[in-house]
Amino acid sequence: MKSRIFRLGVLLLLATSFQSKANPPIEEGKSIFLSRCAACHNINKPMTGPALSGVGEKRSIEWLVKFIQSSQTLIKRGDADAVKIFEDFNKVPMPDHPDLTEENIKSIVEYIKAESKPVEAEKAPFAKPGKKKTFYTPIKLNNYAFVFGFLAVVVALVSSLYYAVQFKTFQRKKLEENKSA
Ligand code: HEC
Repeated sequence: MKSRIFRLGVLLLLATSFQSKANPPIEEGKSIFLSRCAACHNINKPMTGPALSGVGEKRSIEWLVKFIQSSQTLIKRGDADAVKIFEDFNKVPMPDHPDLTEENIKSIVEYIKAESKPVEAEKAPFAKPGKKKTFYTPIKLNNYAFVFGFLAVVVALVSSLYYAVQFKTFQRKKLEENKSA
């Protein structure tokens, strides 16, 4: 058991160190975001533009590339999602970023993912029990079975002792009766 936990720990450690090495895109995304998007966008709260947390899950990468390169082109073409977000944000046009490549935009999305706070989970810790399992240990049936088993053994021991004592006193009485007879 202990060695299994140890091995798991080592694996986790390796996984995280590999991740940080395999993730220079996040650094790239961060620097683009801070220099060209942060004036209007915060990841976890709306400003001039919408909060961007979860945008990588909400929209496809193709859509994001088109929107970020030229949101107005997409809106004029009548893309329903683009029109809606444009109207929700008081028709403030987002400036075009035609020079950003798909790779640049993917790295921005990676950065957004890394910075997104799990808002739902914080507001309702039990809404997704599957994700919060680590925070409590549910009492398992095994524990009850163990406690009941233990109690049964104790009861059996005590009662056999009691009968043993009773039997001895009965025997002694019999002996005394025989003597006096
Ligand atoms: C001048 C302000 C401004 C800047 C700078 C800006 N945006 Fe925006 N952004 C907006 C506004 C306003 C919207 C809402 C849609 C609209 O009005 O067209 C928006 C919408 C978006 C959306 C759509 C969100 C959704 O929920 O679908 C994405 C994605 C986005 N911006 C990414 C970026 C990225 C990435 C950058 C930097 C490269 C950037 N924006 C720079 C103002 C800005």
